[in-house]
Amino acid sequence: MTENELKPNIFNVGAKHFDRRIFDDLIPLPEGTTYNAYLVIGSEKTVLIDTVDGSKFYELMTNLKKIKFKTIDYIVSNHSEQDHSESIIELIKLYPKAKVVTNAKGKEHLMFHLQIPEEKFIVKNDGETLSLGDKTLQFIEAPWVHWPETMFTLAVEDKILFSCDLFGTHLAQSETFVTEKAKTYESAKRYYAEIMMPFRKLIQKHIVKLEDYDFDMIAPSHGPIHKDPNFIISAYKDWISDDVKNEVVIPYVSMHHSVKEMVEYLTNALIDRGIIVRPFNLTVTDLGDLAIALVDAATIIIGSPTVLTGAHPSAAYAAFIANAIKPKAKYASIVGSYGWKGQMKEQLVGMLPRLNKIELLEPVIVRGKVTDEGKKLLDKLAEDIYQKHKELGIVS
Ligand code: FEO
Repeated sequence: MTENELKPNIFNVGAKHFDRRIFDDLIPLPEGTTYNAYLVIGSEKTVLIDTVDGSKFYELMTNLKKIKFKTIDYIVSNHSEQDHSESIIELIKLYPKAKVVTNAKGKEHLMFHLQIPEEKFIVKNDGETLSLGDKTLQFIEAPWVHWPETMFTLAVEDKILFSCDLFGTHLAQSETFVTEKAKTYESAKRYYAEIMMPFRKLIQKHIVKLEDYDFDMIAPSHGPIHKDPNFIISAYKDWISDDVKNEVVIPYVSMHHSVKEMVEYLTNALIDRGIIVRPFNLTVTDLGDLAIALVDAATIIIGSPTVLTGAHPSAAYAAFIANAIKPKAKYASIVGSYGWKGQMKEQLVGMLPRLNKIELLEPVIVRGKVTDEGKKLLDKLAEDIYQKHKELGIVS
């Protein structure tokens, strides 16, 4: 067996992108990423499961050339996003007889995004199989992790689940398999927070569905491969559960120290009550670190000064991101200040419509510098949060 061989005749031939530092021009990648693609060589047919980002096509080809096989008969597309599908364009030129195997939605996406002609496709529905001779692939529909067409592929006899983005990590390392569980856990949580969290409820269903399938390895399309599926599935079960933790996340920005002073006062008032607080000064915050903190927190407080009668753009950005990634927090509030007047509070609250089950606790908005009167209001907010966390049974 070579280092990149998962099981006999199943290889990771994907690419490592150690120095990529941003995804979608939005998501920071402090540890790079990988685009895993898996060559499965059966006694009669050979399949490539997913491909790589177009910028790394040469690396896919280099890796394929190291392995002895006749031709690629099928290219399975679990997910049509370009970081996994873009190289299909070149592959079907090199292997003109290869068929692209995906579901109906995947076919539609690939035809639009990559202009792949219709006759190239074989469509598989949920539960259907593809025989490679001595190996069988089974397709498991898993929509919305994180696009509508996403699916998993199971190597039935070899018991490998190819889960594409789900259970993945943006973590480039030279080793094929998970080596450091703590590091992989943190990276997987970041990935979940940034990409999968809006689909938490659907993931709950997918994980239940997976209980009907037999596998002892999970091979995602990003990051190292899991020889211990329970490690990553258990982590996901915790993140996707409806349970929140005794934590308050405070993304904030401050122009003339007033909001900073309020946040520091509130932070200490919460710590005094035994609550874990994670303040994030948005001028120096990595978006992924904020997203990770939002996975478990029971309460979110946004801190903002007033700029041109509205929220500071950095605070508005944090509110926009929180609304988009849909954390499971139960409570929210706003703290902030204004110089003469404005609609900062109303603007920020209006930016959180997707968090419709969240309860808004009385915001604390002061004029200018926070006074003793304002501090009393912050004490009351801290006490309100404490009482709410106590009602949830999460205060130890
Ligand atoms: Fe890794 Fe949704 O692409």
